[in-house]
Amino acid sequence: MTQARRKILVTSALPYANGSIHLGHLVEYIQTDIWVRFQKARGHECTYVCADDAHGTAIMLKAESLGISPEEQIANVKAEHEKDFADFLIEFDNYHSTHSDENQTLASEIYLALEANGHIDRRSITQAFDPEREIFLADRYIKGTCPKCKSEDQYGDNCEVCGATYAPTDLIDAVSTLSGATPTQKESEHFFFKLPEFTDFLKDWTRSGTLQTEVANKLSEWLDSGLQQWDISRDAPYFGFEIPNAPGKYFYVWLDAPIGYMASFKNLSERTDDLDFDEYWKAGSDTELYHFIGKDIVNFHALFWPSMLHSANYRLPTGVNVHGFLTVNGKKMSKSRGTFINARAYLNHMNPEYLRYYFAAKLSSGVDDIDLNLEDFVQRVNSDLVGKYVNIASRTAKFMMRFADGNVSSHISDPELWQRFVDAHDHIASLYEAREYGKATKEIMALADAANQFIANNAPWTLAKDEANSDQVVAVCSQAINMFHALSIWLSPVLPATQEAAGEFLNLDIRWPNTLEWLNNHTIAPFKPLMKRLEQPAIDAMMDDAKAELEALQAQSAPTPTLSSSEHLDADPLGDIIEFDDFAKVDLRIALIVDAQPVKGADKLLQVTLDIGGETRNVFAGIKSAYQPEDLIGKLTLMVANLAPRKMRFGVSEGMIAAAGPGGSDIFLLSPDSGAKPGMRVK
Ligand code: 2FM
Ligand code: ZN
Repeated sequence: MTQARRKILVTSALPYANGSIHLGHLVEYIQTDIWVRFQKARGHECTYVCADDAHGTAIMLKAESLGISPEEQIANVKAEHEKDFADFLIEFDNYHSTHSDENQTLASEIYLALEANGHIDRRSITQAFDPEREIFLADRYIKGTCPKCKSEDQYGDNCEVCGATYAPTDLIDAVSTLSGATPTQKESEHFFFKLPEFTDFLKDWTRSGTLQTEVANKLSEWLDSGLQQWDISRDAPYFGFEIPNAPGKYFYVWLDAPIGYMASFKNLSERTDDLDFDEYWKAGSDTELYHFIGKDIVNFHALFWPSMLHSANYRLPTGVNVHGFLTVNGKKMSKSRGTFINARAYLNHMNPEYLRYYFAAKLSSGVDDIDLNLEDFVQRVNSDLVGKYVNIASRTAKFMMRFADGNVSSHISDPELWQRFVDAHDHIASLYEAREYGKATKEIMALADAANQFIANNAPWTLAKDEANSDQVVAVCSQAINMFHALSIWLSPVLPATQEAAGEFLNLDIRWPNTLEWLNNHTIAPFKPLMKRLEQPAIDAMMDDAKAELEALQAQSAPTPTLSSSEHLDADPLGDIIEFDDFAKVDLRIALIVDAQPVKGADKLLQVTLDIGGETRNVFAGIKSAYQPEDLIGKLTLMVANLAPRKMRFGVSEGMIAAAGPGGSDIFLLSPDSGAKPGMRVK
């Protein structure tokens, strides 16, 4: 099937610059990367852009809690994200940031267009305000007692115990999680995007074939129940772009986030001859534009975003491809259960292609959640990739060398079987095109089974015992090599590194041809192992890493006596605010650090021996990233001495070192001439 060369721009959602990439994120990036690699392999001009989503209160507060500027915070996280993506073989054509000149220019221009078109409204609203921190409080920064079931410690918008939803003003004894102060109510002017004016446009657009049916149906419900104006401004202090002609007012992070797709492309197009910004983005463009996103952010991408583009005279997305969430062993990934797996915990122990393959095998074009079942994962990777695919080459290559110096025979030993491969080629392409990767891998593995069956039936290892059979051995193995080539082509979007290695063995560049052709006059190279089996200890080690992360987090965020207003700013469910009465119970002691040692198998922990005046305590502290153990020995610090001993994987922790921030960086170190003595109580 020959196709004209398409111009395609593809995006994945922009990850926030305040956290690490985890396996849940990777469903999307792997799904998108496979699709992009497939399009490129077929010869289309396909461009894949992404960026960090750098703005908003959460990022500003995170930076503050770490004692760094937001700019430093987003630079650090961007470097980490880029490394994680590269190591998972996610190949962006550009990875930018929403905190960029291009994005500021585009966001301002689009906003001014919306305003000029009469699509912006302004009015005063009243919101919760933290009088100590002098900052408006989003619902998630307010906690209190549920007005319905009276459960304590519930967020400002809904109760996790009884499910009630309410306004933060309904909470009993509400407090700001930023300072502990009681929120007040304060008025300020906000800017709104008049979304209801786009209802008819959206009714048409969401039914134009751009969206999956189940997504379009969900949107219909929202459209029928009536749209509301969208609040696009935030008051200072806010990390973002100031709204033109509105000092002290900033674009809400979600206003400039999707514009970040354009900005990343603009940044790339300015240094790429073949890419023209207007050709891809102006209304009437005949290029294609696809956004891959999770089902939680459909409203932003299928209501607000197309309406903004439409008003500002830009093109609309060709497709918004929505996927479901990831579960691990059937459950939502959870920090508190230790099943929250970061990209790095995986990469420390396993080949990224295992996960790429497993996700591919599970993905469809629908929005259903997919499950990473760790037992099934091991079994599937070993059986399909090692047992079926690689095995075809590894069990026939040596005979090709021994009997034919690697020269592939032009004789087709089983033409019927080969025809099955030739016929499958277009169908597999159409499954990739439709994002039906699960169906594609199923078909590919069925053909790998047929290839293995063919080899087993002809048993080249038995034939090879008699030199007189050498032609027959070469014929059988040549067919095996041709089938291996076909399978390598079809798996190439999923397994880019193995594709390289398979290409070296086959002595050719693996490309997606229009029709599958038998290798003629071709010589292959000696075989080298392509992929190792996945063994259970690697999984265990990854899960240990995930648990160690959790323990480090708990070691940092057990109730600390250091709740000044600059701390605990991140709404981390593990970092709870404590009441003053509880605070008064804390037995805070001066402690001498007599020993500090790294902990085997825990990236973030140090085992610290503390002397509190004749009594020695063993404490595990998540401070390894900030201190060399030897620099701590002999220093004085503060410890919480009356915590119940806690059994950790590495031993029992008998207390906690008081940290100055929630991020596990700085502990209190006291000057030797402070007059403090080990064991002294601090009040
Ligand atoms: O939900 C999120 O993680 C957002 N940072 C996604 C932004 S996608 C795009 F609109 F920028
Ligand atoms: Zn409740």
